[in-house]
Parts: sequence; C-alpha cells; structure tokens
Amino acid sequence: MMKIFKTQRALKEHLSSIEEELVVGFAPTMGSLHEGHLSLIRESKKRCDIVVCSIFVNPTQFNVVSDFENYPKDYFEDIELLKSAGCDVLFLPNDVDEVYKNEKKVSLDLGNIINVLEGEHRPGHFDGVMRVVKLLFDIVQPDKAFFGLKDFQQFLVIQKMAKVLNMEIEVLGCDIVREENGLAMSSRNKRLSNTELKNALVLQKALNHCKNNFGKMGLQDLQAECFGILQKESEPEYFEICDAESLSPITEVSEPQKIRAFTATSIGEIRLIDNMEIV
Ligand code: PAJ
Repeated sequence: MMKIFKTQRALKEHLSSIEEELVVGFAPTMGSLHEGHLSLIRESKKRCDIVVCSIFVNPTQFNVVSDFENYPKDYFEDIELLKSAGCDVLFLPNDVDEVYKNEKKVSLDLGNIINVLEGEHRPGHFDGVMRVVKLLFDIVQPDKAFFGLKDFQQFLVIQKMAKVLNMEIEVLGCDIVREENGLAMSSRNKRLSNTELKNALVLQKALNHCKNNFGKMGLQDLQAECFGILQKESEPEYFEICDAESLSPITEVSEPQKIRAFTATSIGEIRLIDNMEIV
C-alpha cells in the first residue's frame, strides 16, 4: 500500500520510523506523470528498499507565469500510476508554503554549469530548482536520488549541489524515455495538438543529424545545419554541442571527451527541450 503524506511533519515522522539499514530512494516530480517519471520509480525500486516520490509544481522555477499556470495537474491519475509502479511513499503537499515554510536559504556558486543552456535561456530557473530540491532532500533525506537525463543539465546541477553541500546522497541519472517515434516524453507534450506533435519530431531529427554527421564536417557548420532543421518546423532557441561534464561548447574534438548535443525549441506556445549523447 502506498502511503500519501500532505505535510512535511507527517512525512518526516513516517520516514524516521524506517529502520536505519534500509536504503531510501527518492524521485522528485511535478506530476502529470508518464513513463519517463515511472522509469525513475522503477529504477529506484530496483536499487532501494523504500521508494519515495514527491509531486509538487514548484513556482520558483518557472520564469514564465503562464507556463506555471498551464502546467497540467492531474493528481488522481498520478496516484494510480505511482501505485502501479511500486512507489511506497508519496509526498503531495497541498500548497507552496508547506514546502517553503522553514527554508534556510543558502547561496551556492556552481560555476559555468548553471549559466549556460537552460540557465542562460531561463533566468532564475536553476535557482528555483536548487531551492526546492534542497528542501525536498532535507525533508526526505534519501540515500539515493533519481533524476532523468531528459533534463541532463538539471541532473548535473543537482549532482554538483549535493556534492558542494556535502549531502550524503548519491544522485543518479536515468536514461531518456522516448515515444516510439523518438519524441522524448514530457508533461508538456500533453498540450500539443496532433499537428504540433508531428512538428515536435524535429528535435529528434536535428539531434540525429548531429550524431550522424559529427566528425564529418566543421562543428560550426554542423550546429548551423541542426539549427536550420529545427527552424523548418519550430522556433529554436539554441542547438549546442557541449562537453558532457562542463557543458562548455566544444570548439575542437579532443579525445577522450564525452560530448552531448542540447536543444530547446518552441512548437507554437510550447517550449520543448531534448539532448543526446554524441560521443
Ligand atoms: P519533472 O519535469 O516532473 O520531472 C521529474 C523527473 O522526471 C526529472 O528528473 C526529469 O528529468 C524526469 N523525466 C521527465 N521526462 C523524462 C523522460 N522522458 N525520460 C526520463 N526522465 C524523465 O524535473 C522536474 O520535474 C523538476 O525540475 C523537479 C526536479 C521535480 C524540481 O521541481
């Protein structure tokens, strides 16, 4: 039976009754769950004894008010999905204050990785993500935390935050779950019309083009071609080829380096992101 807690206090009380030796896994979400989220729960189930999930649409990480207001909220279905994936504990706070009320703000300098890509294009976004994840980590105190590589930069930011704050939490990244046609699953896909869903395949098209042509042409030309592919069906913000650890743009290919391509583009009103390992 999955237990649901609406207050920090009740959740903490429950978690403190769990035996020390048991490994607690945690996957924070903003709800409107799909297979991408459930893959985190399943991975957590494999590696941990107790699986905790949270659903909280965090206002401080939205830099556009309408995006926050239109964020899909379907908790009844979410609860059923979590039960079927084997989640043990759900933290489902009723309001923003329940999460933020005892916040002790810390200022963190994580360097370049929060200033590029999403950090550059969504000012304040990662500050909000770090604030809420720190609060949730402090409440749940998990041994392991699971994040999707769909938000690769977020995963790196949280991993670094946990390290800098000396939190004893292993932050793990889980593979991107895609639809059969390659579209990365996202709660925002629910807001796309059928035509827009077809146009959204352009992200995958551009990333595949990058992977298939990497090393065969100059990096700037390749990046420009990928941006051009995106422009045919969407309004791209960026397409960048970066070092997978520092997220600095690649200027030349030097071995051994892990390289990933990152993109953000809007299909009508909806802004989508995706990324892919290139080498
Ligand atoms: P949300 O967008 O709900 O995503 C919750 C977790 O699910 C994140 O770790 C995200 O990377 C992962 N995820 C989403 N789509 C995925 C997919 N297609 N494949 C694999 N994993 C996927 O990310 C957030 O919420 C918030 O920023 C949060 C961390 C909860 C802080 O508010």
